[in-house]
Amino acid sequence: QEPLAEIARVFRGTFVHSTQYAAVEILEDTVLGVDIEGKIAFIARAEEVARLSEIWGFKISDVKHLGKHRFFMPGLVDTHIHASQYSYTGTALDLPLLQWLNTYTFPVEANYKDLDFSQDVYTKVVIRTLKNGTTTACYFATIYTDSTLLLGEIADKFGQRALVGKVCMDVNNAVQCYKETAGDSTEETNRFIRALLKRKYPLVRPVVTPRFAPSCSATLLSHLGEIAKNNDLHIQSHISETKEEVSLVQELFPDSESYADVYLKHNLLTDKTVMAHACHLTDSELTLFRETGAAISHCPNSNISLCSGMLDVRRVLRHNVKLGLGTDVAGGYSPSMLDAIRRTLDTSKALTIQDPQYETLTFEEVFRLATLGGSQALSLDDRTGNFQVGKDFDALLVDPTVPDGPFDVFPKEDTKVILEKFLNLGDDRNIVEVYIAGRRVVPFQEAM
Ligand code: GUN
Ligand code: ZN
Repeated sequence: QEPLAEIARVFRGTFVHSTQYAAVEILEDTVLGVDIEGKIAFIARAEEVARLSEIWGFKISDVKHLGKHRFFMPGLVDTHIHASQYSYTGTALDLPLLQWLNTYTFPVEANYKDLDFSQDVYTKVVIRTLKNGTTTACYFATIYTDSTLLLGEIADKFGQRALVGKVCMDVNNAVQCYKETAGDSTEETNRFIRALLKRKYPLVRPVVTPRFAPSCSATLLSHLGEIAKNNDLHIQSHISETKEEVSLVQELFPDSESYADVYLKHNLLTDKTVMAHACHLTDSELTLFRETGAAISHCPNSNISLCSGMLDVRRVLRHNVKLGLGTDVAGGYSPSMLDAIRRTLDTSKALTIQDPQYETLTFEEVFRLATLGGSQALSLDDRTGNFQVGKDFDALLVDPTVPDGPFDVFPKEDTKVILEKFLNLGDDRNIVEVYIAGRRVVPFQEAM
């Protein structure tokens, strides 16, 4: 009998993931096979291993046992991160958004004209996020095309699944040297997309990236909407992060009914759109999101660090709008998605402090948002997000009992409790291996 596909690896042990039905499904003593294309070929109870080895033609002696307490979980999906802001992560959090952009962010981003500087920072952000378990990242770079292509090249080299955006902005920028015209921005976006697609990186795709409505003329927004539509591309931007920004958009686009309507009018709200923050959306704007299939990236560290607002995740989910989590480095001060999970829980608890009737999010729900929810928000859930057969094997091997690790495990604790401890207390020391599309990308192959 011919095997259906060649099996590259088989693991045996505990697998934890989210499904359509369960925020956390724990599969103990399970075997999972990955084929040579990096896809999950089978996932079954370990009793089935002999039968599976016959069907698929692997040797039982090649099955890798995870060992006590270790488990696999799906890779974390960062739906919003500024690779170009990584250099100043953890600093400059003392101004509100619009001043923060002009004072810290735009001057730093202007440095990415320099390819050596870009290479250094982009290598470090890809390594840092991979070590922290980010298997998929949706990146903002800067306005510079060649530097942004370099980010794509580095993500590909290290094997990270990535959406990479050349930032577009042509108005309202106090930093004179960090500007483009609508014409240049459009042309460079086209050049970026063509060049990135030509390289045929298997896991890296371009994303059309208007910075946000206040930074873009109506002309530029409509050109970008057109480009996304003609090439069926992802779109990312920011929306309703602060109240001041919402008022500014009302002034700048008096003919639009709402902030969301500005993007809608320019063909920028689609089922491949992800908008960061969305703290201050109205019900009718959330309805527009649901109707178009556009998603929200919840960036709680940034929302709190820049005192922007608190997104009510429950309300978004009630509207049936897709939602993932984002670090929003460097408005958010942590590049780790584990931090985004914790800040999501904190924000939900703060809403409960304000209103004791509020139904606080559970850690299980937030685990789902950080994995399957993120892949759905990026419209990549046909490829990644959980351990469904046919999806790519994007996974973290978690060792809760790593020597000198950040927390302790006691004999009576089950996998669910250990998962909760890892989500609340764990860090990159516990993430002993990372796989993306079946390839082991952590530990790194070469000396860094
Ligand atoms: N809105 C427009 N640009 C940015 C940015 O770089 N960071 C954040 N947090 N919000 C923005
Ligand atoms: Zn952002």
